[in-house]
Amino acid sequence: MTVLQAINVSKRFGGVTAVDQMSFSVASGEILGLIGPNGAGKTTMFDLLAGSVAATSGQIKLMGQDVTKSAAHRRLAGGMGRTFQIPRPFPELSLLENMLLARQDQSGERLWANFTAPRRIAAEERAARDKALGLLDLVELRRLADDPARILSGGQRKLLELARVMMADPKVVLLDEPAAGVNPTLLEVLIDRIRDINGTGVTFVLIEHNIDMVTRLCHRILVMASGSMLCQGTPEDVARDPRVIEAYLGGTPA
Ligand SMILES: Nc1ncnc2c1ncn2[C@@H]1O[C@H](COP(=O)(O)OP(=O)(O)OP(=O)(O)O)[C@@H](O)[C@H]1O
Ligand SMILES: [Mg+2]
Repeated sequence: MTVLQAINVSKRFGGVTAVDQMSFSVASGEILGLIGPNGAGKTTMFDLLAGSVAATSGQIKLMGQDVTKSAAHRRLAGGMGRTFQIPRPFPELSLLENMLLARQDQSGERLWANFTAPRRIAAEERAARDKALGLLDLVELRRLADDPARILSGGQRKLLELARVMMADPKVVLLDEPAAGVNPTLLEVLIDRIRDINGTGVTFVLIEHNIDMVTRLCHRILVMASGSMLCQGTPEDVARDPRVIEAYLGGTPA
């Protein structure tokens, strides 16, 4: 089953075509890598999938539904989660508070429910707290749950991002350079956690410059260069493709 699909998607910023006629499908349960040199259009592609940037042309489908015109929060509610290349947690809020802000559909926010069903709200709050602490535990940050997010290292922020995105129970998660700034020990934690979460049926699309991580994790890789799809295949196929090596060395893609 296809969870996410881009059909001839393009994005122009003034005279720059950041994404040019991209078409691909993401299958349920896969870990798909999206690689390519700096400025290739990878983050813009994520912005288009997640809905934070509107496509100039083309179509995006989530779970078979056309979401091209849907706002980012609608896509989030439809099962799409994403993390950012540069995570920006609320620095003065605790890790736990940052996690609780990432929830979906909290009935406590509907004022009337606080009067009609206070016990249910309290139970929901407890469940959300337990879930947040469980996810912080998963990424080895539970001991810092009550500390402000500003004390985290760059790598810990990346792990908090992964935990945070899981609060909304996404079906497909877009990870933008999850390994950037993560030290080798934390990187192993990150790789294991992505595998564990993928094992529960969650689909991942991963932008990453760390080729070792991409090769170890991804079932399939798409290579972008100058906004377009250069090639796609298994990690082995892509590593052998002379066009990929050329693109990374700054040569003109064939
Ligand atoms: N908001 C914007 N306005 C104008 N140009 C933009 C905007 N966002 C991206 N671009 C341009 O689009 C192109 C693709 O950028 P993008 O950030 O998607 O690349 P990337 O593949 O994620 O690169 P990196 O590996 O460095 O993160 C670049 O030329 C960039 O300058
Ligand atoms: Mg980027």
